Amino acid sequence: MKRTFSLFLTLALVFVLTACGSAPGQGSTPAPEENTPASTTPETPPESQPEDTPSTDGETPTETDDSGKKILIAYFSATNNTEGIANHLNDILDADLYEIVPEQPYTSDDLNYNDSSSRSSQEMDDPSARPAISGSVDNMEQYDVIFLGYPIWWGEAPRIINTFLESYDLSGKTIAPFCTSASSPLGSSATMLQELTEDVTWLEGQRFSGGASVSDVQSWVDGLDLNG
Ligand SMILES: Cc1cc2nc3c(=O)[nH]c(=O)nc-3n(C[C@H](O)[C@H](O)[C@H](O)COP(=O)(O)O)c2cc1C
Repeated sequence: MKRTFSLFLTLALVFVLTACGSAPGQGSTPAPEENTPASTTPETPPESQPEDTPSTDGETPTETDDSGKKILIAYFSATNNTEGIANHLNDILDADLYEIVPEQPYTSDDLNYNDSSSRSSQEMDDPSARPAISGSVDNMEQYDVIFLGYPIWWGEAPRIINTFLESYDLSGKTIAPFCTSASSPLGSSATMLQELTEDVTWLEGQRFSGGASVSDVQSWVDGLDLNG
């Protein structure tokens, strides 16, 4: 665990340094958050390769918070950083947890943003891409609040989050977005997702580093109005 965390920190640092560096006379090397084509991306992958993908937790009983709201934590995580934050949220809220699992799992080659022909590069280059999700949320209508987590890919949410949002009638619900990234802020990723929904109340989102603590996550949750 400690080694994995150290590896993450090292790779994140390499990512930041690589993203910020540029060869003199060649202009800036675009960082992924600028959502530029992958052919111009930094040379070092930002993260460790995906570990085993945990399966969807469909068995957790429905929980409510003190306000009586039924809460779902839905997240996509290719290399488990966002999953860690989702688990912290689950400790805090005792909500239902749902992992957005791609029908076709992402391999390390798929995640190579230095390769313009990699799956992630191609999907992020195509705003209409909608990677298929394996399984679905049981009785989505029962939830009042959805915490929606994802990694930042090229400054945006991965397209599979679009697939998720377009798979359900979410009208009347409240969504609180959260993300992990090497360095990019939540930025416009959440506002772009908002455009995919109607009659949904979007709360102020939060970006976390992969190693964020439960208390970091608690601070964000404390500032949210879940009754909104
Ligand atoms: C295809 C791809 C694109 C990425 N783009 C960015 C980016 O634009 N900005 C950034 O800070 N990190 C970027 N990252 C790093 C991830 O956001 C970061 O490692 C995140 O914590 C991964 O979350 P996960 O382990 O839940 O998949 C990118 C990673 C991948 C694989």
